Amino acid sequence: MSVKCMIRDVKDYVGQTVRIGAWLHNKRSSGKIQFLQLRDGSGYIQGVVVKSEVSEEVWNDASKLTQESSLYVTGVVREDSRSKFGYELTVTGVEIIQITQDYPITPKEHGVDFLMDHRHLWIRAPRQRAILSVRAEIIRAIQQFFDQRGFNLVDPPILTPSSCEGTTNLFHTKYFEEDAFLTQSGQLYMEAAAMALGKVYSFGPTFRAEKSKTRRHLIEFWMIEPEMAFVDHEENLRVQEEFVSYVVQSVLKNCAAELETLGRDVSKLEKCVAPFPRISYDDAVKFLQDKGFEFTWGEDFGAPHETAIAESYDTPVFITNYPTEIKAFYMKPDPNRPEVVLCADMIAPEGYGEIIGGSQRIDDPELMEQRFAEHELSSEAYQWYMDLRKYGTVPHSGFGLGLERTVSWICGLDHVRETIAFPRTLYRLYP
Ligand code: 4AD
Ligand code: MG
Repeated sequence: MSVKCMIRDVKDYVGQTVRIGAWLHNKRSSGKIQFLQLRDGSGYIQGVVVKSEVSEEVWNDASKLTQESSLYVTGVVREDSRSKFGYELTVTGVEIIQITQDYPITPKEHGVDFLMDHRHLWIRAPRQRAILSVRAEIIRAIQQFFDQRGFNLVDPPILTPSSCEGTTNLFHTKYFEEDAFLTQSGQLYMEAAAMALGKVYSFGPTFRAEKSKTRRHLIEFWMIEPEMAFVDHEENLRVQEEFVSYVVQSVLKNCAAELETLGRDVSKLEKCVAPFPRISYDDAVKFLQDKGFEFTWGEDFGAPHETAIAESYDTPVFITNYPTEIKAFYMKPDPNRPEVVLCADMIAPEGYGEIIGGSQRIDDPELMEQRFAEHELSSEAYQWYMDLRKYGTVPHSGFGLGLERTVSWICGLDHVRETIAFPRTLYRLYP
């Protein structure tokens, strides 16, 4: 009798016969023994087929297996300290489901375009599997963090009538007779939700028709957007640093094997514990000028600037109080210095750039009206948003964490395109 199980659970079946649905990842053969590298999505295990111990049929079926052939394998689980997986399977039976011919992704090196064209298969590779598995852990940690702290999950709409983060990179679509846009950020709706539920967060896809072809930009990316009533700028930063530390420490605890597969230097991540340093925009500008950058107050930072600033720290760093001019219309000005806003970007270490953008929001109805005029936003489209300032306005703050940039940093990747199963990038909609 065999028990059906998944590879990750074989530790519970040492000495027993199990049956596993699997794909052949790789194979070695000595003529008398075949070593099958098997994967089932939950993990990897080596199946050992000994010619003298199995029927001719089992031996021959095992010999036919090619890369990515699918099968049910039956065998006895053995503890094996030499194997990097810790366990081995002494194979007693092989049931072929399909012998795969000409699997396009071979163990040799392939170019990025080729791999991206075959992304639907590429995600089976150990490295890609590890990344997607870390991503899933990050999402679990995010939800745990907020759920444990009394936040309610709220889902803002994806089809929207107006913009949140400026009108230049909106995806336009039709909503029957009306014009509509794919959401750039759920924030404005989350502000309404915070007035109803106090502390809320959203987690969903957002879209930016950005013509940027960088290693940090996706056209479709996932964002976590908490929004909190009665929370000011300073309190907002404290939530962010605790949140990011929690996520990193959860990955270190639960994804050690994946981080090893990725060759991630975990000592760098271990240092990521709150509180995080803060540097004002003003000081960041001075710092850059001292480093020889040509940079004037009022400009926005680009990737090289962010990287130069982040290099001074082991943990993420907050850059606070940016010029009002270069930030979104809804950010609250510093009461003592209205030319800057009560905002912060969190910059990840090691050159991964901005992972969080957040701020305290304008709560004063008159100032909000004034901003609509300055930014040429039709007050009709934002009528409902104004209502939040009219009916019991309160100080409130929130932020948005970009999931893919966070995955990219924690996994130590060169490019954000590997952080999501099917990335949407500037020139790619397939597969
Ligand atoms: O700084 P952003 O544009 O902020 C907002 O959208 C706010 N409304 C969030 C809020 O306060 N609720 O975007 C937030 C984060 C960035 O820090 C970055 O991590 C990520 O979203 N992001 C992108 N990630 C991948 N590709 C892109 N094109 C991204 N644009 C922003
Ligand atoms: Mg930003």
